Amino acid sequence: MPFFFCLTFLVLLVIPYLFFWVDYGKQVVSHVLPKEKIVSVIENLNTPSTNHEGESTLFKESTFLHQHAPADEESTQCNPGNALLKVFMYDLPPEFHFGILGWNGDGKSVWPNIRAEVPHYPGGLNLQHSIDYWLTLDLLSSRFSDRSAPCSAVRVEDSREADVVFVPFFSSLSYNRHSKVNPPETVSTNELLQKKLVEFLTSQREWKRSGGRDHIIMAHHPNSMLDARMKLWPCMFILSDFGRYFPHVANVEKDIIAPYKHLIKTFVNDSFGFDNRSILLYFQGGIHRKDGGSIRKQLFNLLKGEKRVHFAFGSLRENGTDEASRGMHSSKFCLSIAGDTPSSNRLFDAIASHCVPVIISDDIELPYEDVLDYSKFCIFVRTFDAIKKGFLMTLIRSVSREDWTQMWQRLKEVEGYFEFQYPSKKDDAVQMLTRSEGCQEYFGWSSG
Ligand SMILES: *[C@@H]1O[C@H](CO)[C@@H](O)[C@H](O)[C@H]1NC(C)=O
Ligand SMILES: *[C@@H]1O[C@H](CO)[C@@H](O)[C@H](O)[C@H]1NC(C)=O
Ligand SMILES: *[C@@H]1O[C@H](CO)[C@@H](O)[C@H](O)[C@H]1NC(C)=O
Repeated sequence: MPFFFCLTFLVLLVIPYLFFWVDYGKQVVSHVLPKEKIVSVIENLNTPSTNHEGESTLFKESTFLHQHAPADEESTQCNPGNALLKVFMYDLPPEFHFGILGWNGDGKSVWPNIRAEVPHYPGGLNLQHSIDYWLTLDLLSSRFSDRSAPCSAVRVEDSREADVVFVPFFSSLSYNRHSKVNPPETVSTNELLQKKLVEFLTSQREWKRSGGRDHIIMAHHPNSMLDARMKLWPCMFILSDFGRYFPHVANVEKDIIAPYKHLIKTFVNDSFGFDNRSILLYFQGGIHRKDGGSIRKQLFNLLKGEKRVHFAFGSLRENGTDEASRGMHSSKFCLSIAGDTPSSNRLFDAIASHCVPVIISDDIELPYEDVLDYSKFCIFVRTFDAIKKGFLMTLIRSVSREDWTQMWQRLKEVEGYFEFQYPSKKDDAVQMLTRSEGCQEYFGWSSG
C-alpha cells in the first residue's frame, strides 16, 4: 500500500475510529503465504521492466515513489511540518540503548550529544541487526535545524501529538551481548532489561491509552525480546521474519519486516556485468540443522559436483567478508536459502553485490513487499522444486544474458532502499521503514 493512499485513508478512517473502538489486538490473524510470488518468477523473467509509457514498473504502484513526496522532500532538508510521521520517543535510561554500546554519558543525560560524537557501533555480525541504532539516531537528529538529510519521521515532545510511540530498546544488541548469566546473578541482563521494559511500558499513560497498539518495538534478531514479546505483542514489532513467533503475537497485518544490514561491501560503480562474473552460483553461509535450514545440507549435496558453483559453509566472520565480497561481486546468481529462520542476510548481501538473488525459502516475508516487486530482480524457487535433481542448475542456466543483465540493472536501482546509514539519505532503509510505520498504524487502527 503506497503511503500516498495511506495518508488519504488515514484521514478518512481516523475519525470513525474515534467512535468505534476496534479490538484489533485480540484478533488472531492467520498468516497466508503469498504463493503467487514463487510461481511468478519464470513469467516475470521475460517481461520488460518498463510499461508502455516507459515508466519503471519495479514498483507495484508506480505512483509510490513520486506521489508520496511533498515537494520539499526533493530538497535535502528535513521540514518537520511536512514529515509523514510524528513520533514520540520514551527517554529510556542508557542501559536500554547506547549504554549497551559502552556509552555512559555523564550520568545526567539520557541521550548522547550526537552532534558532538555519535557512539560507535562495532563491526562484525551484530551489525546485521543494527536497525535499532540507525532508527534511533535518525529520530534523535530529526529536529536538528541544520539537518542535511530529508526526514520522513520527526520526534515530538508531547505524546498526544504523536502518530506512534517509539521504544528505543536495542533489543538485538541486548540479546547478542547480555544473554549470558553471570553468577551470582540468576538471570541474564537481557532478561532483566526485558522485565524492566515491560514494567515501564505497561505503566505509561501512552501505553494504557492505546493498549500498546501504537507502540513500535524493535526485535530484529529472531531471539530478541523472547520474554517480553509475550507481554507486549499488541504493539507493532520491527522484525526480520515471523519464524519464531506465534501468529497472534506477530503477523503481517500489524508488524513491519525490515531488511538486515548487509555485511558484504556495496559494489560501488559496478561495471562487472554478465561476462565479468565468472562464478555462476554462489553460496556462503552457516549450516543449520533446525527447521528450514536442513535444506542447505541437501542443496550442498546436490550442487557440490557442479562447475562454476561456489557452495561453502562457514559464516562471514570479520575477515571472511572481504573474501565473500569478492566472491559475490564475481557471481551471477547468489543463493539465499532459509537458515534456521525463513530470512537470511544473504539476500541483502546479494542485493548489495548486484548478484541476482535466488531465494529458496517458502515462508519468507520481504521488506516493503507491498510496494517493491521483488520478482523483477530476484528468482524465487520453491524448496520442493529446489531439491529435485537438476532443477536449480537447469533453471539458472536458462536465464539469458539479456534477462540477467536487466535484473542486474534493477538491483542497482533498488540497492539504496536497503542501506542503513547515519545521517540517513532519501529513500534509504531508515526512511522506507518510517514510511511503512505510518501505514501500519493506519492498518492497525482500522482493521476488523
Ligand atoms: C565511482 O564513480 C564516481 C564518478 O565517476 C567517482 O567519483 C567515485 O570515486 C567512484 N567510486 C569508487 C569507489 O570507485
Ligand atoms: C568485463 O568484460 C568485458 C567483456 O569481456 C571487458 O571488455 C571489460 O573490460 C570487463 N570489465 C572489467 C571491469 O573487468
Ligand atoms: C582469516 O584470517 C586468517 C589469518 O590471516 C587466515 O588464516 C584465514 O584463512 C582467514 N579466513 C578466511 C575465511 O579468510
